[in-house]
Amino acid sequence: MPKIISTVQIAANALQRGELVAFSTETVYGLGAIATDSAAVKKVYDYKGRPYNHPLILHVHHPSQLLHWCHNIPKIATKIAEAFMPGPLTLLLPKKDIHTEFTAHSDYLAVRIPSHPVAQQLLQAVNSGVVAPSANRFGYISPTCAQHVQEEFSDKDDLLILDGGNCSIGIESTIVGFVHEDYFIARPGDITSTAIEKLLNKKPIDIPITTRAPGLLKKHYSPNTPLQLCTKDEIAIKLLADKDTAVAVLAFTRPLLHSPQHTWLAAPLDAKEYAHVLYKSLRAIDVSPATSILIEIPPLTDEWLAIHNRLQRAAGGYD
Ligand code: TXA
Ligand code: MG
Repeated sequence: MPKIISTVQIAANALQRGELVAFSTETVYGLGAIATDSAAVKKVYDYKGRPYNHPLILHVHHPSQLLHWCHNIPKIATKIAEAFMPGPLTLLLPKKDIHTEFTAHSDYLAVRIPSHPVAQQLLQAVNSGVVAPSANRFGYISPTCAQHVQEEFSDKDDLLILDGGNCSIGIESTIVGFVHEDYFIARPGDITSTAIEKLLNKKPIDIPITTRAPGLLKKHYSPNTPLQLCTKDEIAIKLLADKDTAVAVLAFTRPLLHSPQHTWLAAPLDAKEYAHVLYKSLRAIDVSPATSILIEIPPLTDEWLAIHNRLQRAAGGYD
C-alpha cells in the first residue's frame, strides 16, 4: 500500500533518489518522477500501464524554466503563459534538442506550471523538471484526492503520495497548442477557450484530432460501470423500464425513482462545482452496487465544454 505523507522534503528526497511520488496539483493528482531520470520515467509508464508512445507533461515551478526546455516560443504562447501560469494550463511548445524519454519522439513538449502550493513547494525543492501524468491506471478516471491514488496503486508499496487535500478544480488542465502565431485547444479544461480568445482577441483554429495522445482517445477517463448520457426524459423512460437493476443517476433535478435499486446523485448546477465533484462521484458509483450510470446532459455553453469532453469520453462516444 502506498504511504500518504505531508512533508515536502521527504517527497523531494524520494524523487531525487529515483522513486515515484504522487502529488497534488489544483487539477488532479500527478504521478511524478524526475524528468531526466530515464529509469524513473520508465517506471511511471509501467505503473500506469501506459503505452510508451503517449507523451507525458513536464511540470516546472517557474515560467523562466520554460526556456531551458523549449525554444522558438510563439509570442501568443508567452502572452497566454503570462496570463494563466501558474495555473490549470498546459502548453505544447517546440522542444529544444534535449534528449527526453517522455515526449514520444514529438518535436513538442507539454509543459505545465501548477499553482497548488504543495506542487509548487515540491517542484522548488527538487529544482528540476518533474514529469507527471494523472496518477491513475491507464484509461481510468484521474484521482482528485490522496485516497484515490492509494486505491489506484494499492499494490505499490514503494510509492509515496504527497497529500495536498482535495484538488480544487477536479479535472485535467486545458492543453493549448500552436501553429505559428495561431493556437488550438487540444484538451478543454478549466481555462476556457473564451478566456483565451478574450486575452488574445483571436479565435482558436480547428485542427484534426489525432487519436495518438491518450487524453484524446475516444474512450478514456472512464469509470468501470457503463455510462450513458441522456436527456431528462430519456432518464425517466429508462428508470421506468429498468425497475430491477441497480442504476445510479447523476442529474440536475431528482428524477422519479421506481425502486430502491435506483440512486440519485444531485449534479451541481455550477460548471466549476460539477468539475470539482465529477471524478469523485464516478469513483463512488464504481464501488457502489450500481451496474449502470445515467448522466443528464449538461448545458451546452462554453463553461461546460470540458465537462462534456470528459463525459463523452467516459461514455466512449467522442469523435
Ligand atoms: O492537469 C493535468 O494536466 C494533469 C496534472 C497531473 O498535471 N496531468 C495530466 O497528464 O492530465 P496526463 O498524462 O494524464 O495527460 C496528458 C495529456 C495527454 O493527452 C497527452 O497525450 C498530452 O497531454 N501530451 C503530453 N505531451 C504531449 C505532446 N508532446 N504533444 C501532444 N500532446 C501531449
Ligand atoms: Mg490522464
